[in-house]
Amino acid sequence: METKIWVVDKFVDKYELYPQISQAAELLRAGEVVAFPTETVYGLGANAASSAAVKKIFQAKGRPSDNPLIVHIADYDQLGQIAVDIPDVAQTLIERLWPGPLTMVLKKRKNVVCEEVTAGLASVAVRMPAHPVALALIRESGLPLAAPSANRSGKPSPTSAMHVLADLNGKIAGIVDDGPTGIGVESTVLDCTTDIPTILRPGGVTKEELEHLIGRVHVDAALLNEKEKPKAPGMKYTHYAPRAPLTIVEGTSGFLQQLVDEQRALGKKVGVLTTEERQLTYRADAVISCGKRSDLYTVARHLYDALRAFDEAEVDMIYSECFPNHGIGTAIMNRLKKAAGYRVLYEK
Ligand code: TXA
Ligand code: MG
Repeated sequence: METKIWVVDKFVDKYELYPQISQAAELLRAGEVVAFPTETVYGLGANAASSAAVKKIFQAKGRPSDNPLIVHIADYDQLGQIAVDIPDVAQTLIERLWPGPLTMVLKKRKNVVCEEVTAGLASVAVRMPAHPVALALIRESGLPLAAPSANRSGKPSPTSAMHVLADLNGKIAGIVDDGPTGIGVESTVLDCTTDIPTILRPGGVTKEELEHLIGRVHVDAALLNEKEKPKAPGMKYTHYAPRAPLTIVEGTSGFLQQLVDEQRALGKKVGVLTTEERQLTYRADAVISCGKRSDLYTVARHLYDALRAFDEAEVDMIYSECFPNHGIGTAIMNRLKKAAGYRVLYEK
């Protein structure tokens, strides 16, 4: 299949009237899958009500069928069509944070969203993305769009149309290209079916922000202890991994450099994942910065692109710096640890 690419013109103010959006929407209505930008990462969309269309997502991504998808909506009526018994806390969060990088797991309304989307669960994950192109595409298609991140399963999520193309060229009907995404890590997944809402995946909205709005918030035990079974099925899979094995280093840059030197002495090509502040301090075969340590939102934005860049550098192994585990840093460390298969080296 030929993958069409529609580049969005920056100067358009009414995306709904834009021919590229109508073409993409038409393909979605015809049951095809199309990648589109959101404020977090690129998504791979299909009609959430159609089993045949949603199966194409799983096939293109090589995604295990027991991993449910997020349904993307553009208005509040659509929410009522796919979820029931929306609790007050969810209502508050909808008012304050939608559209935005917050996905809520709610009780599913029967017989609307197809079984493949929810992997047979009684709940459904819903989000309203804060991206004009995504919202226009959902509106123009007239469909709730099931959309996981538009990467091959296991790879870092795509933060540009080039990433999507690298993974899915020839496997999907099209890509709406609106340049790099803003946040760079996926939405926070919050289970609102528990008495106290539970974070299943840290993401663009921080725990601190949620607590500020609704008070107590739990964190899924699997996020605190890697041996626990996660409640979001997708969190159990290896993810975000560059080709070369990645190890997180908790310690000084001197210690990290020492590890690099040891491996290079053995003839290995070594990469270092660092930040602008420290980029010039390392000697290695590829030293890649993922943003400014002084502004962790820049690290979130560039993390996946940096992880993908190591594949091109063809290194044998990668050492990464560590980031503070609060605010947006929690999402960064969650993705990094998964990319590293939880390998962490501590300086003694
Ligand atoms: O930012 C994002 O959320 C992006 C953009 C495209 O919107 N999407 C995304 O989707 O990251 P995906 O499929 O890569 O991740 C969805 C996560 C998975 O961990 C999945 O297991 C979980 O949400 N999930 C989906 N439905 C669920 C449900 N009913 N109960 C628990 N977890 C669910
Ligand atoms: Mg994903």
